[in-house]
Amino acid sequence: MKTDVLIIGGGLAAVVCALKLVDRYEVTIAMKGSIENGNSWRAQGGIAAAFSSLDHPFIHYKDTMKAGCNQNNKQLVEMLVKEGPRRLRGWMKEGLTFDQTMDGELLLGQEGAHSIRRIVHNQGDQTGKVCMSYFWSKLQQKKVRILSHYQAIDLIAENEVCDGAWFKNKQNELIEVRASATILATGGIGGLYEATTNDPSLIGEGLVMAYRAGAILRDLEFIQFHPTLIYSQGRTAGLASEALRGEGARLVDQEGTPIMEGRDDRGDLAPRDVVARVIYEYTKKEEPIFLDISPIPNFKDKFPQITSLCNQAQVDLEKQLIPVCPGAHFHMGGVETNANGATSIANLYAVGEVSGNNAHGANRLASNSLLEALVFGERLGEFLLSQPLKRELTRDHNRYIRAEEVDDPSALPSKNELKRKVTQALGITRTSHDLEQLLSWLGSFRQFDQDVYRRVNWTREQIEIDTMCTAAMLIAKSALARKESLGAHFRNDSQEIGRMPMNPQAMMQARGDIW
Ligand code: SIN
Repeated sequence: MKTDVLIIGGGLAAVVCALKLVDRYEVTIAMKGSIENGNSWRAQGGIAAAFSSLDHPFIHYKDTMKAGCNQNNKQLVEMLVKEGPRRLRGWMKEGLTFDQTMDGELLLGQEGAHSIRRIVHNQGDQTGKVCMSYFWSKLQQKKVRILSHYQAIDLIAENEVCDGAWFKNKQNELIEVRASATILATGGIGGLYEATTNDPSLIGEGLVMAYRAGAILRDLEFIQFHPTLIYSQGRTAGLASEALRGEGARLVDQEGTPIMEGRDDRGDLAPRDVVARVIYEYTKKEEPIFLDISPIPNFKDKFPQITSLCNQAQVDLEKQLIPVCPGAHFHMGGVETNANGATSIANLYAVGEVSGNNAHGANRLASNSLLEALVFGERLGEFLLSQPLKRELTRDHNRYIRAEEVDDPSALPSKNELKRKVTQALGITRTSHDLEQLLSWLGSFRQFDQDVYRRVNWTREQIEIDTMCTAAMLIAKSALARKESLGAHFRNDSQEIGRMPMNPQAMMQARGDIW
């Protein structure tokens, strides 16, 4: 199969980018599942944007840099906070809606590490679903090829040039899709962990395929753990948004004592890395932690998605206490890109969570992820429209079909065992010892330099486990290399703190340069 633009993944960044391109190019979107399997669909809190008359993009910029430990790419953050409100206004004129007050003003939510209310949301806590439905319905009116249940297994790439990707369809048949431009929009890596807010299908395919093609990856050790996953009957049951704390919910222990007091000036609304580590101290000792939601009037109306998740998990909301624990949420690192989504491989782009554009630094500010998907998804579409696509696909890439020897898949760990090991070594706190143990355990199963084409006969499940092993290996190596604690990467075996305080002089310079 041939196409102009191949987008791998079906989340918000993918859809917004496709919408820009469909009138000019033949666009193919290939998804591992369906649109509901992505993280965009699940997003609760909302989208951060400086709309309030009391707010300014520069204040949003400062909050983003501070949460990211000042490691973020300043130009990218500037684009995010300035272009976000402008692009959102454009879509709002075309019909995208957000919750409003009786007077028709945007109802702005509050989340951790934001110095002001600036989160637009929809149907309370269903922002992702509503935004996705809006953009998907627009896309469905256009001519676009959608390949659902297509598992991407490898890029067609040689000598740092990408010509498309290989997939397995639902029948486990090998499908080649050749493209002039290939876009990775495969989302995050939460599926590598036991506890996650992510759809379990999100295991880092984009990262792994880009790695095999020789792309530059960056900051893989920065993985954000959301402090509050609903925890019931020994397992997690989805996210309890930070917006709850924005509306007054408190984190308390089993005696009802607030746990964030004295831990950070911002209390319950401290950055996620800080709050997650405090909760982790308790959960390690098997001491339960709760979100006390009693300060929130009309909880069920305001937060219908969380209400439904709690009901499914048999959490009795009449008690006004939601048991919580931290879980893997967002990958700040990824496939290195510039502001246009271009990777180090020709004709290969990355957008959304899989991209390592460094807009988020060492720790992402709440509700900046849908914003990133929207801003950089549309920017990538604009970039591809601004220049001719390479048309000639002359290269021969049928190595899968020619594979003579095939690998034996019997020597693979189980998914559960792999997740347990990853959670233990690559969790909220890390040590060299644990990381080395994980790497040596992974090495006992996989020889990562082995020719991937020899796995042609493997099932989708076996290929997933193999991908998870490779993703875990890459992240563990990055985590081992960063010896100090910084943002979401916390080294238990080092006193060295890499967290950089805000440098007032640098901030002034930034203001002079770009605002
Ligand atoms: C949340 O609602 O707490 C998550 C939003 C986000 O990750 O930005």
